[in-house]
Amino acid sequence: MIMKSLTVFNQEYKMILDKNVFEPNLTTKLMIESCYEKIKKMKKINLVDIGCGCGIIGIVLKKKLKIKEKSYFSDISSNAVENTKKNLELYNQNGEVLKGNVLNPWKNKKFNVYISDVSAIAHDISIISPWYKSVENNSGTDGTKFTIEFLKFFKDNNINKSFIFFPVISLSNRKKILKFLNDNFQNYKCLNKKTWFLPEEFNGQEKLLENLKKNDVIDFKEYFGKKLCFTEIYCIKI
Ligand SMILES: C[S@@+](CC[C@H](N)C(=O)[O-])C[C@H]1O[C@@H](n2cnc3c(N)ncnc32)[C@H](O)[C@@H]1O
Repeated sequence: MIMKSLTVFNQEYKMILDKNVFEPNLTTKLMIESCYEKIKKMKKINLVDIGCGCGIIGIVLKKKLKIKEKSYFSDISSNAVENTKKNLELYNQNGEVLKGNVLNPWKNKKFNVYISDVSAIAHDISIISPWYKSVENNSGTDGTKFTIEFLKFFKDNNINKSFIFFPVISLSNRKKILKFLNDNFQNYKCLNKKTWFLPEEFNGQEKLLENLKKNDVIDFKEYFGKKLCFTEIYCIKI
């Protein structure tokens, strides 16, 4: 176990991080900041953080918003589940942590804040990337499998008066996710968008990247010889 820190709201949050658990990154930070702005005035926050990794999104929100209610966390990885329990203890926060696929562990519970940061990048990208060396991606050829599964949950179940948050990364088929949103939800919004350069691990992969882009699996722009990608944070109000 090592300690890793992430700066959010100009404040450093230190987290215990198992070597087999996803290391928090820009998406984590954007998710926390976007969720915070949207829910900060809510009186009672009953949140679930799925694809919780080390638990950072839910734990930082609990700490920052002084959420007294118990919060709920889950992940497909047993390492992530154990890691989140440790960080809840470290931050003296109350939470229940379960192992399971997307929202399956919480089928019989209702929340007013649903946060999903489940793996969501195209398979061919994840195997080259520095982010998924010891962590499961498995979100399909175009990276949309779990995001669509998460969104479908709200169509198939009678859930209302809730906020739903999730990221869309340009290293997945963004057009497919946006089409699903347009076809199924009225009240959705992109809360934040940040661009970033593809890391050096992708040097020499031009042919693959161009091919994936041509097939709408990923998207990026060329900028002074570098590849510029982006991360967006979406919120749906149901
Ligand atoms: C991008 S990481 C985010 C982790 C954490 N939220 C953070 O920001 O550091 C994605 C997480 O989703 C988990 N995951 C992958 N497939 C999943 C699935 N089918 N259901 C639930 N969690 C999954 C991974 O184990 C990983 O912890």
